[in-house]
Amino acid sequence: MNWGIRNRLSQIMGHEDGRCVMLAVDHGYFLGPTEGLESPREVISPLLPFADSIMLTRGILRTCVRPESCVPVVLRVSGGSSIIGEDLSKEEVIASIEDAIRLNASCLAVSVFIGSRYEHQTLMNLARLVDEGERYGIPILAVTAVGREMTRDSRYLGLACRIAAEFGAHIVKTYYCNDFDTVVRSCPVPLVIAGGKKLDEKDALKLAHDAISSGASGVDMGRNIWQSKTPVSMIKAVRSIVHEGLDVGAAYSIFVHEPGNSNIASELQK
Ligand code: R5P
Repeated sequence: MNWGIRNRLSQIMGHEDGRCVMLAVDHGYFLGPTEGLESPREVISPLLPFADSIMLTRGILRTCVRPESCVPVVLRVSGGSSIIGEDLSKEEVIASIEDAIRLNASCLAVSVFIGSRYEHQTLMNLARLVDEGERYGIPILAVTAVGREMTRDSRYLGLACRIAAEFGAHIVKTYYCNDFDTVVRSCPVPLVIAGGKKLDEKDALKLAHDAISSGASGVDMGRNIWQSKTPVSMIKAVRSIVHEGLDVGAAYSIFVHEPGNSNIASELQK
């Protein structure tokens, strides 16, 4: 692995425990102004101090994040279909490596849709990006996007993660599932998990805890943070699991005891 890739990877996973809290705010690239992320600038700004890195498109980076911000950027560079379009798996690379360098990206994110109609095209996107990343010293994060017809089980996710790693991805983002440790075991690069649809906060913290306990290197979480009524307390609670090894109860009490959640705290005391 070349020095640039190692250096940039350490910006993403370089916390002393080797784990990461990546804040995912890239959803608009196919969902538009999705619930909770209608005004990205307002959402992102209070969360940044608690994120080890931020995953987003260049459009939102340029318009909603101050260049003076020191947060490492994981730039989403695949896209091309919308939620109302023909097929979400029909993606191409949507930003050049030169622009990624101008934007000082620490990592590039590309989705692969294993088992979907455009599987081959998305794997070729990954292969080309890995080559470009190697050329310029930028690591690649492969997102294992799951089509509606796929089951999020360890067999499918293990297959998708392994293929992504075999293609040269430096980090793989996937979903938590039963027997997640088998997915971790068969993937030779760090795995981070997406949060998925909004859950009750305690359930989302359990998801993060179970994933970390099974060997995930971190989270790349979006909706379960910024769709929470108190996103800052939620990201702090997630951090406590990822970096401090807190259990779900202790992390939930960080969430509950933040100002803004006094109603939940008093409910719990009854
Ligand atoms: C999905 O298309 C995006 O890549 C998101 O970044 C990813 O799904 C993580 O966000 P969430 O925690 O909301 O699932």
